Amino acid sequence: MKIIETHELTKEFNGLVAVDKVTFSVERGEIFGFLGPNGAGKTTTIKMLTTLLLPTSGTAYISGFDVVREAAQVRRRIGLVPQRIVLEGDLTARENLLFHGMLYGLSRRDIEAKIPELLELVGLKERADSKVRTFSGGMKRRLELVKVLLHEPEVIFLDEPTVGLDPQTRRKIWEYIQILNRERGVTIFLTTHYMEEADYLCNRICIIDHGKILDIDTPQRLKDKIGEGDIIEMEVSGKGEKFAQALEKECGCQIKKMEENRITITARRGEYALKEIFFLADKLGVEVTSISVREPTLEDVFIHYTGRGIREELVPGSGMMKYLTRRLKQ
Ligand SMILES: Nc1ncnc2c1ncn2[C@@H]1O[C@H](COP(=O)(O)OP(=O)(O)O)[C@@H](O)[C@H]1O
Ligand SMILES: [Mg+2]
Repeated sequence: MKIIETHELTKEFNGLVAVDKVTFSVERGEIFGFLGPNGAGKTTTIKMLTTLLLPTSGTAYISGFDVVREAAQVRRRIGLVPQRIVLEGDLTARENLLFHGMLYGLSRRDIEAKIPELLELVGLKERADSKVRTFSGGMKRRLELVKVLLHEPEVIFLDEPTVGLDPQTRRKIWEYIQILNRERGVTIFLTTHYMEEADYLCNRICIIDHGKILDIDTPQRLKDKIGEGDIIEMEVSGKGEKFAQALEKECGCQIKKMEENRITITARRGEYALKEIFFLADKLGVEVTSISVREPTLEDVFIHYTGRGIREELVPGSGMMKYLTRRLKQ
């Protein structure tokens, strides 16, 4: 039996379809990620799966239990780490765990027996008796990750687990998430708008935008699907369009994007394509002013499906970028 299974799961808010007939399943033991921009419907999906929000239509099952009709059974089997940190700053790490465990009806003795190994798991054993308000953002996240393990859930839901953390701390959290998955055998469902995070952590990724699933696959297969091989980005002076056409015809490259004189193509073998590109440029009297070869990222996958980046404002030449530049100049 799949640990998570949904069929055409849908949530509408006053006519706005936040989650639109989403169908997917997650295997036991997987790290499965929802990747999409802000407003894609990630949190709304998590809320329905964790019984906090009723679906408008469609079904969802956790370990075979219906999230609507068997909500209590579902709650017993899941843990949720919401986007905002919910710890008591005036309590110590140990007290926070005690407090949370008691909410779940566990006995004080049971909780106390579990605390050392849980804190050890995320490198917080030495800080068991420090007040949480003295913790860094990363330490708080780590405490939250093990807090939800107290009642031994089969699956934990992490909503944007590293938002607002610096890159180094983010990496550490990734390692701890992997440790929980490997050493405790807990299935992980996470949401993120960081493509690197999805790429690094997830066995499979569901790409979501405007409440709709665009694709579900392993990170590698998602990247393989969009193009043959490497991505080459270049800037040329003059005759951009003609040059691009010639590239497609004579070098077997595929044009992905063409914006004024910036051309993005995919080529089966980047390093060979470079030679042909320069040869062709010479022939047509075009000057290549900059060029780079890289492997495709999940950002490219997202652009392939939607025509825009996950974090639109960060894509040079994007509509959002132009809009902001214009606003700044006014
Ligand atoms: N309680 C609500 N009432 C009305 N609209 C909502 C509510 N919650 C979320 N939305 C809308 O649903 C869409 C999806 O939101 P959300 O699931 O929070 O996206 P994400 O977590 O991917 O950023 C957004 O357009 C958001 O404004
Ligand atoms: Mg969200």
